[in-house]
Amino acid sequence: MSETKRFANDRHLPEAILKNIWDHLEVGARQGIHPWHLVGLATVENGLPRCRTVVLRAIHQQELWLCCHADTRSPKVAQIAAQPEVAWLFYDSFERVQLRITGKATLHATDSFADERWAASSLDSRRCYLAPYTQGQILPGPQVNLPDDLLNGPPTLDRSEAGRPNFCVIKGSIERFDWYDLNSAGHLRLEVTWPDGLPRFNWLAA
Ligand SMILES: Cc1cc2nc3c(=O)[nH]c(=O)nc-3n(C[C@H](O)[C@H](O)[C@H](O)COP(=O)(O)O)c2cc1C
Repeated sequence: MSETKRFANDRHLPEAILKNIWDHLEVGARQGIHPWHLVGLATVENGLPRCRTVVLRAIHQQELWLCCHADTRSPKVAQIAAQPEVAWLFYDSFERVQLRITGKATLHATDSFADERWAASSLDSRRCYLAPYTQGQILPGPQVNLPDDLLNGPPTLDRSEAGRPNFCVIKGSIERFDWYDLNSAGHLRLEVTWPDGLPRFNWLAA
C-alpha cells in the first residue's frame, strides 16, 4: 500500500470520496493485501449482535451490492435467513479510513449467482467447504476441520465438487455508506444513501 493518504486531497468533495470508496472496494475484492479485503460482517440473532471476519469477494457499484462466501451450515447463514439486516465494517489502518455499510443480505446456494461464484473460487478456498463438522460444533480436542485426505493441500477439481452443496454466497445490498476519515487536521464523516438510485450525501458530525 502506498503511504500517501489518497483520500486527503479530495476529502471535502463528496463525489470524489464516493469514487475513492468504490475504487478501494474494487481493489479490496481483488487483492488479498488490501486492507479492505477483510471485512467485519455483523448479523443479529434473536436480538443479539453477532460479528465475524469474512473475505470481501465481489462488489457491484451499479447494482449496489457486495458479497462474501460462507458455509451453508454456519450459524451466520441461519441468522441471515431469520433476519436479513446486516452491517459490514471496513478499516484501512494505512489511510485511517473506516467504512460502514448497511443493508439487507440474501443467501444464494443453488442459483446461477452461486454457481458463478463457485466456478470462480480457487481449489484452496473450496477446501473449506469439505469440512466434516459444522462451524461452532464442540469437538473432543484441538482438531482442524478438514478431511484427512486434504490436510496437506487443496483438493483436486473433482474432489472439490463434493463441497458445492455446503457453499453459499451472502450478497448484501448497499443501502448506506458511513465513511469516517480519521485525520490529525480533524476527522470527517460522510453518509451516502441512494434514495432514488442516485447518491445523496450528508456530512455528519465525526
Ligand atoms: C481472516 C479471516 C477470514 C475469514 N473469512 C471467512 C469467509 O470469507 N467466510 C466465512 O464464512 N468465514 C470466514 N472466516 C471465519 C469466520 O470469521 C467465522 O469464524 C466462521 O465463518 C463462523 O462464523 P459464524 O459462526 O458466525 O457463522 C474468516 C476468518 C478469518 C480469521
